[in-house]
Amino acid sequence: MLPHKVSIFEVGARDGLQNELPVSTQDKLTLIDQLADVGVTRIEAGSFVSPKWVPQMADSGDIFKQLTRKPDVVYSALTPNLKGLELALDAGADEVAIFGAASETFSQRNINCSIEESIARFEPVMAMAKARNIPVRGYVSCVLGCPYEGDIEIDEVARVSEILYKMGCYEISLGDTIGVGTPIKARKMVEAVAKLVPVEKLALHFHDTYGQALANIQACLDTGISVIDSSVAGLGGCPYAKGASGNLATEDVVYMLHGMGIETGIDLHKLAKAGQQISAALGRLTGSKVAQAICSE
Ligand code: HMG
Ligand code: MG
Repeated sequence: MLPHKVSIFEVGARDGLQNELPVSTQDKLTLIDQLADVGVTRIEAGSFVSPKWVPQMADSGDIFKQLTRKPDVVYSALTPNLKGLELALDAGADEVAIFGAASETFSQRNINCSIEESIARFEPVMAMAKARNIPVRGYVSCVLGCPYEGDIEIDEVARVSEILYKMGCYEISLGDTIGVGTPIKARKMVEAVAKLVPVEKLALHFHDTYGQALANIQACLDTGISVIDSSVAGLGGCPYAKGASGNLATEDVVYMLHGMGIETGIDLHKLAKAGQQISAALGRLTGSKVAQAICSE
């Protein structure tokens, strides 16, 4: 059965902008405020990673300290280790996310350690977050393929997902990091993970590199999943995943869901305008087909 409502987890300000040309802190703050205004209630606003690795996110502390907090909006941050968590807490993040991978090589390239080492690094992050009452989300990258290893075993995706869930992550976001998945494969992957992690604790995080993300989401929508990660204007990619384009554009998935009678609580026209504005700040056109259509009406 299809869900009545889908919760959009907006990652444009983080997953998007981490892989775009740098924009000003003020442009990011404007975007985040606009997202909250149009009805997005879960916003990943930055990441506390090494500024040498991802300079675009170096102002995340300022972002969290300066954003205009709206009631009922959760502002989240990516934190790979204890140092990241401490910085995120200091800046006032409402929740954090740890990020692992189902591919050994991707883990090494992305966070400079093996999958098992990453789990060990996450333990103290989970413990401190728990002590501070901060919810932790868990990402698993390369669930439908890896830029270095190609196909990834579904069992490995399920294994890593279960580990993060059992560590205490309240939700596991399944990342098709380089957007190579196709619908039947995506569904089989979700069904395999759902044997080990309750399906209502899963989220879909599909990049749209090969233009398959909407089809992949649609193929998984009646499995019981009701959380979708997406990026306004289709911003971004991943700096350690060559060829990764942005996540699926939020405007495109919201348009599809509303057309299927599924609520998101988001004002699509206002969202498209926000996407146009950040795209203009980046000196490029929006990556959302729906926003292009809306804005030329
Ligand atoms: P490392 O070099 O192994 O760590 O990096 P280290 O502990 O040896 O520290 C090295 C230096 O980094 C030190 O500074 C630390 O202080 C500093 P130095 O002494 O050289 O001046 N450092 C930090 N600085 C700020 N914040 C921190 C932090 N930790 C250490 N938290 C590390 C390990 C994880 C830090 C590094 O590999 C890194 O930052 N990687 C960036 C990973 C990243 O941001 N990737 C993109 C996000 S993941 C993604 O997009 C996928 C996702 O969207 C899902 C999907 O699509 O699949 C989530
Ligand atoms: Mg991503």
